[in-house]
Amino acid sequence: TKEVLRVAVTGAAGQIGYSLLPLIARGNMLGATQRVELRLLDIEPAQKVLEGVRFELQDCAFPLLGDVVITHEPQVAFDGADVAILCGAFPRKPGMERKDLLLTNAKIFSEQGRIIGDVASPHCRVLVVGNPANTNALILATAAKGKIPADQITALTRLDHNRAIAQVALKAGAPVASVSNVIIWGNHSGTQVPDVNSAVVNGQPARQAANDDAFFDGDFLGLVQQRGAEVMKLRGLSSAASAAKAIVDHVHDWILGTAPGTFVSMAVISDINSYKVPAGLMYSFPVQCSAGTWTIVDGVTVSPKVQELMEATTAELLEERSQAGI
Ligand code: NAI
Repeated sequence: TKEVLRVAVTGAAGQIGYSLLPLIARGNMLGATQRVELRLLDIEPAQKVLEGVRFELQDCAFPLLGDVVITHEPQVAFDGADVAILCGAFPRKPGMERKDLLLTNAKIFSEQGRIIGDVASPHCRVLVVGNPANTNALILATAAKGKIPADQITALTRLDHNRAIAQVALKAGAPVASVSNVIIWGNHSGTQVPDVNSAVVNGQPARQAANDDAFFDGDFLGLVQQRGAEVMKLRGLSSAASAAKAIVDHVHDWILGTAPGTFVSMAVISDINSYKVPAGLMYSFPVQCSAGTWTIVDGVTVSPKVQELMEATTAELLEERSQAGI
């Protein structure tokens, strides 16, 4: 372990950044005694806002927080980074096709992947949050190839995972802390597959604890898949506090390890998996982590319905990959 870990955050002047940075500086992500320094990247027009964020971080007087550098240059932001969290992405504008969004972001993530490969720590752990997160992560992995191994690059599906946990807890009338081992398979999009077949509540199968299979086979799926859109409708803005919490959970568990006997969902490179997912995709699987290494959990029972949905989310990821030209 290093005395000070350098964390790069992109899109740091945005909504998620504002919720995320205090959690990192407080020690929620890398541990309650781990000192951190921050490299905050955003585009040039956002530098004034970013300066305001930096002032507030100083004013919080976080004991664990060292230098906070703000910049619009990726070379500066990623220099020596131990962890890189990529929230900066081009937002979808009215009338913009999904494919145009993909290509605009492909440019950003391939440039940043190349630069991370050149200047970040070779051990850098990368989390892609900006959408389309799975495919952006794949683009980044392709650009960083030969310098940063693909297994050090992941995308965020933990928010979907946490949303599923919350719904299981509500249905079972149990605290969230008693729920584990839900799974999100596939893409962070409407085709994601929330799966409670392995979930447990206080050591008991979740389906048994909640005793409402009709709910889990019906409304539950849409509830989790469409939760982001619901929050957007209500707040007029996309999920930010919950996204920040999910980012912290993802990196925390990746670096510090998952709790014994439990697994979490992360989008990771699919090259070696026992679920017949084609290689070369960033696909969300159940994983266990220890000291910065993830392993896909084998032997999870996949129901025929889940299998069918997994194939649909695979098809979407394959299409995104081909649109991105990889
Ligand atoms: P936001 O629009 O408030 O902030 C994004 C920031 O990124 C802006 O400050 C913008 O200037 C910056 N940015 C744009 N291009 C950049 C570049 N090339 N380099 C550096 N910074 C750049 O958006 P918000 O709400 O913070 O969300 C960020 C991203 O995360 C969005 O793409 C959103 O769709 C995605 N998201 C993903 C989730 C997931 O579960 N994977 C959950 C929630 C949001």
